Amino acid sequence: MIQDSFLLRVYEGKKVIITGGLGFVGSNLARALVDLGAHVTLVDSLIPEYGGNLRNIAGIERKIAVNISDVRDKHSLPVFLRGKDYLFNLAGQTSHLDSMLDPETDLDINSHAQLSILEACRLHNPDIRIVFASTRQIYGKPDYLPVDEKHPLRPVDVNGINKLAGEQYHLLYDHVHGVRSTVLRMTNTIGPRMRVKDARQTFVGIWIKSVLQNTPFEVWGGDQLRDFTYIDDAVEAFLLAGARPEARGRVYNLGGKGRLSLREFADELVLAAGGGHYSVRQFPKDRKKIDIGDFYSDCSLIASTLEWTPRTSIRTALRRTVAFFRKELSNYL
Ligand SMILES: NC(=O)c1ccc[n+]([C@@H]2O[C@H](COP(=O)([O-])OP(=O)(O)OC[C@H]3O[C@@H](n4cnc5c(N)ncnc54)[C@H](O)[C@@H]3O)[C@@H](O)[C@H]2O)c1
Repeated sequence: MIQDSFLLRVYEGKKVIITGGLGFVGSNLARALVDLGAHVTLVDSLIPEYGGNLRNIAGIERKIAVNISDVRDKHSLPVFLRGKDYLFNLAGQTSHLDSMLDPETDLDINSHAQLSILEACRLHNPDIRIVFASTRQIYGKPDYLPVDEKHPLRPVDVNGINKLAGEQYHLLYDHVHGVRSTVLRMTNTIGPRMRVKDARQTFVGIWIKSVLQNTPFEVWGGDQLRDFTYIDDAVEAFLLAGARPEARGRVYNLGGKGRLSLREFADELVLAAGGGHYSVRQFPKDRKKIDIGDFYSDCSLIASTLEWTPRTSIRTALRRTVAFFRKELSNYL
């Protein structure tokens, strides 16, 4: 529970809308905002293949409003957005592989619908404050590590291109139309309520499912370095980004506390779960083409401007995540 008195002052009594609010990040953010005394509305399509799950709002369902609606339906957007103080814009198609198999759906959700949302804000609620969930995927294969915000943007898949367009629309609407927006480029995020039924959100999901079901999982490659953000740290970054006036019109990397190879990460998971087995194998061909190799973020910009740093170690993050799914796994399969 976030007790920060600054965030309480900012969000208490405010009207907040979260697109993609039944998903992993959105629902954890909703919980924090309820704790801070905000009036929270979720908009989520709840398409079965995506990460939305009504179980994600268990315990807060009576304290929030939920609209099962698709952000591609541009005629419904003004109704949701009018009168709101904050928009956390998280609705997204998250699978890199799906974006290569069905690129137009990814375009519709991650790019076109983002433009519709911003148009609805410009026309019906230009004073709203927006935080957009972007991704480190837009950098592509790094030229140097750690990757800072000045790194060239060279997405390696359709999802990266459309997320890049989505974030650039937000910045354009901030700079040109004065619709105040902040972009957070998230790295792999883990924690309670993440998607574990498949690998559409992250490979970590099926690894967790496997160790809890006592079946072996596969590590592809294994030497790639990665960073991971724990969900509570990510939620804090979203809240700060919306609350701090100096964050408007800015782009920030999020990152993790430490970095490790995927093989080391798999060992940490097995440790957290008290057991589990994995095998290391070569990357499947279709994945290799869109893999970015080593990646970890430089998040010193957000640290120096918004005083946000990832606080949770990977060991603690995995311990908490495994504990959550030990009780909840059947609701997430
Ligand atoms: N989790 C991560 O590691 C990570 C990393 C980088 C970026 N992000 C970004 O953060 C955001 C949230 O991701 P998440 O991890 O919570 O994924 P998620 O799949 O759990 O949540 C996304 C939510 O958006 C909803 N959604 C999808 N299309 C929609 C539509 N057309 N209309 C309405 N709702 C729709 C889904 O139903 C789902 O509930 C996404 O935009 C994603 O690109 C996440």
